[in-house]
Amino acid sequence: MSHFEVLAGNKVMVLGKPLTAKDVAETLSLGMKKKTEPFTVMSLKKVVERYREWECEMPGIKPYYAVKCNDNIVLLKVLANLGAGFDCATKAEIDMIINENIATADDIIYAHPIKTPEFLKHAYNLGVPRATFDSKEELCKMKALSPEMEGILRISCCDKTAERQLKHKFGCDPTKDVTKLLIKAKELGINVVGVSVHVGSRCCDPSAYERAIIHMRQIFDEGILIGHPMKVVDLGGGFPGIYNEKISLAKIGKCVMAALQKYFPEKEKYEFIAEPGRYFATTPFSTAAKIFGRIEVPANRITDNENDANKIGYMYYINDGTYMTFSCKHFDGIHPIGQPLTNGNDTNEELFPATIWGPTCDSADLVESLTYHRKLNIGEWLFWDEIGAYSISTVVEFNGFPKAKLYYFADDETM
Ligand SMILES: Cc1ncc(COP(=O)(O)O)c(C=O)c1O
Repeated sequence: MSHFEVLAGNKVMVLGKPLTAKDVAETLSLGMKKKTEPFTVMSLKKVVERYREWECEMPGIKPYYAVKCNDNIVLLKVLANLGAGFDCATKAEIDMIINENIATADDIIYAHPIKTPEFLKHAYNLGVPRATFDSKEELCKMKALSPEMEGILRISCCDKTAERQLKHKFGCDPTKDVTKLLIKAKELGINVVGVSVHVGSRCCDPSAYERAIIHMRQIFDEGILIGHPMKVVDLGGGFPGIYNEKISLAKIGKCVMAALQKYFPEKEKYEFIAEPGRYFATTPFSTAAKIFGRIEVPANRITDNENDANKIGYMYYINDGTYMTFSCKHFDGIHPIGQPLTNGNDTNEELFPATIWGPTCDSADLVESLTYHRKLNIGEWLFWDEIGAYSISTVVEFNGFPKAKLYYFADDETM
């Protein structure tokens, strides 16, 4: 028997038997025939599974979840209960963590190398102990506004295969800039307690973390000579939300643990942390959107192949789009691949080329440009699994279309 519990003011459906996100979405869709808004389901169990996997593959490395990736309060609460800290970059994120009793200031790292002055002062007054920096200007800002806050030097050490490179915006050169920054911090009386990195989002080469750890060792040695109490090894984010043959947490963990053993063998002397975002936020969230328009077109309009001019294709218009849940398409380079929520394509019915458009009047609001489906009907729901990173947190209700409603589910074991 299912029942409801409340977590962070939200109703969580606790299932009597294990169901997939698709099963749950399918059941919910039955009661939504007249609803015009899309909906998203969140599995609390998947957060717990990811956390357990983290503990297994990255033992001794405390995750500070990157709140920007998805600031859903239930996700934050579950992660806090499991023992995570939080990477915050703004006053709003810090206030949410503290005011909603998710965690205390001690469990926050202010991980923005260029901090808004008012936010920095606010964080300092609340007792947030550490912030990242990558320039002398930022050190001066910290001296003026947060003089006793500890500094973590953010270096640039990017995996060339990462789909989103962060090196252009943040991070000092790990060889050329470090000495002068460590000396400047010492002159200003700011304790540098460690080094952080972000190898890039959706990094595909686990050895990128090893390269970062080698730089960190050199910087630790230099920092100690200059008189800094170096102890924090911060591996940043970039851990994958979805695995493939090249990348998984197990592959990264193997590389990271070997490198830490080699370069930081006296474990008790150090604090090993990371700032994973997508790793925790991707898999728990899945979304469903309803088809409200369908037009038949010559298939070449979809495939761009003149040989298809006499074939049939369909353009579908759904009630969620790239201004809403699929904002991850623009902000995170994701290519969403959906499927019919009920009666999938694995029937004997003919498959047609199809385009899936978002609901707004913007012609760039394109969810899937070319996909293949049986002939779908108006009122049918489509479903996208594992879509929680940089999606829900970047929604805008452009053009007046309502955003997806969230439903939470778990099983007895998880609660
Ligand atoms: C400083 C910092 N840490 C962590 C993250 C999280 O990255 P990811 O979601 O790739 O793990 C980001 C993302 O931009 C970031 O800027």
